Amino acid sequence: MKRMFNVIGIASLAAAMSFAGNAAAGKADYNKACKSCHGADGKANPAIEKMMKVEMKDLKSPDVQKVSDADLKKIVEEGQGKMKPVKSLSGSAADDVVAYIKTLK
Ligand code: HEC
Repeated sequence: MKRMFNVIGIASLAAAMSFAGNAAAGKADYNKACKSCHGADGKANPAIEKMMKVEMKDLKSPDVQKVSDADLKKIVEEGQGKMKPVKSLSGSAADDVVAYIKTLK
């Protein structure tokens, strides 16, 4: 019986990982592709806000954290408002960055 629970545990862990992206890989991508504008910990770079004349939400804030993974991925791949699409990241790399953002809170 105990063994069966272990198998279920491992299977569900693998399933969760395949959907959630890899936050560690996402951190490296975030530092390369997002940090200059969104700051090391998700708090916007004030110089960028001033230059782009826009207010950027802190990525740690509940407003951003409540956004679904799919919608966050869309922002990365397609841009939003004044943010241009991040062309260097798509598919699983975008999933990884989204997973990393969700660890910031
Ligand atoms: C050149 C600067 C720049 C880069 C690089 C950039 N962003 Fe943005 N991002 C912005 C700006 C500006 C906004 C606000 C857009 C608006 O509201 O018009 C924004 C908005 C967002 C939002 C929505 C939160 C909000 O303020 O409404 C998310 C999520 C986000 N960015 C994630 C990312 C991720 C993840 C990356 C890296 C893959 C990234 N951004 C790279 C400038 C940037």
